[in-house]
Amino acid sequence: MLPTSVVILDFGSQTTQLIARRCRELKVYSKIFPCSVSLETLKKENPAAIILSGGPASVHVSDSPSLPAGLFELGLPILGICYGAQSIAHQLGGHVKPSKKSEFGHAELDLQAHSKLFENLEHPDVWMSHGDQVDALPAGFETLASTSTCPHAAFMCESKKLYGVQFHPEVTHTKEGTKILSNFLFSIAKLKADYELSSFLEEEVERIKKQVGNAQVIMALSGGVDSSVAAKLIQNAIGDKLIPIYVNHGLHRLGELEEISELKPLVIDAKELFLGRLKGVTDPEQKRKAIGQTFIEVFEAESKKHPNAKFLGQGTLYPDVIESVSAHGGPSAVIKSHHNVGGLPERMHLKLVEPLRMLFKDEVRKLGRLLGLSEKWVARQPFPGPGLAIRILGEVTPERCEFLAKADLIVRQEISGPYWQYFAVLLPVKSVGVMGDARSYGETICVRCVESTDGMTADWAYLPRETLRKVSNRIINEVPGVSRVVYDISSKPPATIEWE
Ligand code: XMP
Repeated sequence: MLPTSVVILDFGSQTTQLIARRCRELKVYSKIFPCSVSLETLKKENPAAIILSGGPASVHVSDSPSLPAGLFELGLPILGICYGAQSIAHQLGGHVKPSKKSEFGHAELDLQAHSKLFENLEHPDVWMSHGDQVDALPAGFETLASTSTCPHAAFMCESKKLYGVQFHPEVTHTKEGTKILSNFLFSIAKLKADYELSSFLEEEVERIKKQVGNAQVIMALSGGVDSSVAAKLIQNAIGDKLIPIYVNHGLHRLGELEEISELKPLVIDAKELFLGRLKGVTDPEQKRKAIGQTFIEVFEAESKKHPNAKFLGQGTLYPDVIESVSAHGGPSAVIKSHHNVGGLPERMHLKLVEPLRMLFKDEVRKLGRLLGLSEKWVARQPFPGPGLAIRILGEVTPERCEFLAKADLIVRQEISGPYWQYFAVLLPVKSVGVMGDARSYGETICVRCVESTDGMTADWAYLPRETLRKVSNRIINEVPGVSRVVYDISSKPPATIEWE
């Protein structure tokens, strides 16, 4: 049986994904759709409730996103957050005031009326981030709470189960935000907390069996956690009809090949081909494109040997899927050409099998554990498809690869903790040093360690001084030719996590 679900309509808020996360943490299956979704699609989805996200627009601007026509006729409980709340008020005859000054940060709710939404609320601290606000409610609505600057910080029409909050319950700065969402989902919308990864797994296995039938699925393993978990799941469904392939491009971390053998892939040795294609290439985008193109060629040639392979398995995650869905439906700017096998399905007439499309990274790790993947696999750091090539600034040569791989191993051995990623980068800068009373002129290794929840934004980690000292000392002593180690203290944005 499919779990009951809540649909989140995205109006372009930075925190829409967080709303989905919170629902899933409450064991309610949630899906995000762009706010331009048709009523037909919504009906097919058959959700038990709808949440409207915030967004950067103002209802007063002529082309600002509006609610899908007929939304209220569905009779579903709706919770509007920030712009979502303003849209409810605006559409139903209330008034939204464009403010001269944005309100940003903590605020305290002054509860005005009893409601299920704020049942058992003990801490009225909430987090605001808005320009406009509602200054007159539609007929039939009442104010639930105000703040010192916002007269209708929360409002409802209880008989129609319509609720609006100007603040953001999905962010952790709203102290009891999860309780408010839980009240909406369970007390108001009567959803069931029935979303479990184990039932997701069972359903997905059945779905893949049906989708694939007697055909074969080929799958490129990257060495990262997503493709490994996806491969294991597909293998559970179709056994040896899955052909996992690992293209050895020679740009991997030390120990990678041994570890990947746990998944028993077909290993294609294309080291020389890749390094040949990278000869003389120093521009980051050209590097990425050369690697992506070579990968497609190698993979395509190999898969021609498997004529019954009609499907391509991929470890695409939910954030990858919705990243490209903006509130206005436009594509986001290309910062880097992320390496993937995107060109393959059309070129080879393959259909996609993407069992992780609806999951977040931490759910993928949990699923990996459920599938029996060993902890060292499940807890792996993300590793970019183009491998060490985008961490070697300047030309990629076999020597520079080997050099960086040694320093990178030390970084991985010495740093531990709940960081998103930690690795070494080889800079194209030589510098003067003094070693054993003699002048040295050697390479520069940069250590990068970042904290992040999804890789979209990141902050550099405040590593203990002792750890930094040990990393630096070991690299200088154990990787001949290094005369300087530096630590990257740039957050994302404006920097990116990888250097290229
Ligand atoms: P950036 O450098 O864009 O990286 O801040 C964000 C996250 O994505 C990883 N990354 C990649 N992953 N193919 C991948 O599969 C790629 O081409 C690629 N480039 C960056 C990066 O390691 C970080 O976790």
